[in-house]
Amino acid sequence: MAISGKNKANPVIFIIFGGTGDLTNRKIMPALYNLFLDNWLPEKFAIIGSSYTKLSEEAYRNGLLSAVSQFSRKGKVVHEQWDAFAAHIQYQYADIADAETFRPLGKLMDDYKNSWNQTPSIIYYCAVAPHFFSVIAGNISKAGLENDPETTRIIVEKPFGTDLESAVELNRKLLCIFQESQIYRIDHYLGKEVVQNIMAFRFSNSIIEPLWNRNFIEHVQISVTEQIGIGTRGKYFDNAGVLRDMIQNHLLQLFCIMAMEPPVDFIADEVRNRKVDVLKAMRKIEPGKIEMMSARGQYSSGWVEGKEVAGYREEQDVDPKSNTETYAALKLYVDNWRWQGIPFYLRTGKRLFRTASVITIQFREVPHNIFNNEEMGAPKKNRLVISIQPDMSIRFELQSKIPGLEMNLNTVDIVFDYSDHEKDTPEAYETLLVDAIDGDQTLFMRADQVEEAWKVVMPILNYWQKNKAQEFPNYSADSSGPENAEALIARDGFHWFNLPDKK
Ligand code: BG6
Repeated sequence: MAISGKNKANPVIFIIFGGTGDLTNRKIMPALYNLFLDNWLPEKFAIIGSSYTKLSEEAYRNGLLSAVSQFSRKGKVVHEQWDAFAAHIQYQYADIADAETFRPLGKLMDDYKNSWNQTPSIIYYCAVAPHFFSVIAGNISKAGLENDPETTRIIVEKPFGTDLESAVELNRKLLCIFQESQIYRIDHYLGKEVVQNIMAFRFSNSIIEPLWNRNFIEHVQISVTEQIGIGTRGKYFDNAGVLRDMIQNHLLQLFCIMAMEPPVDFIADEVRNRKVDVLKAMRKIEPGKIEMMSARGQYSSGWVEGKEVAGYREEQDVDPKSNTETYAALKLYVDNWRWQGIPFYLRTGKRLFRTASVITIQFREVPHNIFNNEEMGAPKKNRLVISIQPDMSIRFELQSKIPGLEMNLNTVDIVFDYSDHEKDTPEAYETLLVDAIDGDQTLFMRADQVEEAWKVVMPILNYWQKNKAQEFPNYSADSSGPENAEALIARDGFHWFNLPDKK
């Protein structure tokens, strides 16, 4: 959420651990390249990619060139622009587990400092498997590279821990070396354009906030469905499941933004305090109620866009008897004045018929219906639909008279569609990297947020681990998910909302 404007920050050095990895190729480097093209990087910057592979600078840059061409939202790179960018990139071998191999990184940083004659911000980016986060932090410290807390930051990817205990332990280890103000825990959903707009929409319109409570809202749905399966991530995913992979972080963060109280100021700690309040106010699901408040699923084989796809248990690196959930739905409550008694339904899953991240706020019925003649069509409940991706829009569904001699009602939409306005929306990683350069932690997770989010999912995680699902696989690829998820919401008289197809 840059407010500082382009190109004004101090010099910056990025050190990317996992510099040859998938995340660097797909997300980090394309984001840095686009920021460079759009003038968001400081004039003086350096990117030092580091990994266990021994590589020449040239080979490293060439590898990045093809990755950026493939994954950048701006498409294939223009060679002169790439050359200007690549001149800022260096490669340095380092073994994450050996602090001695970190020392050359220190030397490179010193060289930059001396030639720039200015103290740069140092951003360590842990784009590696999670069990290395604390090892890297430890070895940064052992090699004497933690530098000034004012200018040194560490970015840590998700997943942050595999349960509450491991998250607490990881926080403890990182906080032995870095201060909280230096730690940037990424949840890339927070960098998505529409997600950032939810706060603007809620807190900069005087007509919205008075309606945002149990008096007007009947229920809320947060739905993140994906068409993709687990691809080559079987090893990771089979030990995780969507409860850990998606709900503990992305969906609960969306939930917090929807349910939070207005912060008194738009500064990182104020915003993050209000989000933690939501997590603390969430009703913890008692073990006896888990079956009623949740649903899980696992996909079987099927056909997606004319191609046959494997069932989850047949995927690469997945246990053929796996009990891991690829779909989860929850019904949650927030025990406070604003939300008492209002259900929030969350669902997410892989290999569903559609990729869409959508939040739906269903308002209550009119208190007294004067249009009670059947022919007029009873007024439908108002709905606010926030579509995060791939369609980006905010849509208000209102009731209106159909033009003509009779008094007949119909639903009309007031739509803010990004595609009518924004041609070039930044990727989440671009937003988050600019914020890390600016030292703005608003869109990053604080230690207590991560831990509170784990507390919400732990009872379900434990219950699901102890009580294996007998009916897995229970939904087929390209379907809308398992029947028990339909039942979860249908029990309350509602149904999952799907976006209408684009005309
Ligand atoms: C990641 C999860 O954090 O988010 C993946 O590990 C998931 O399983 C991805 O596919 C979804 O992100 P996006 O931005 O594609 O919605």
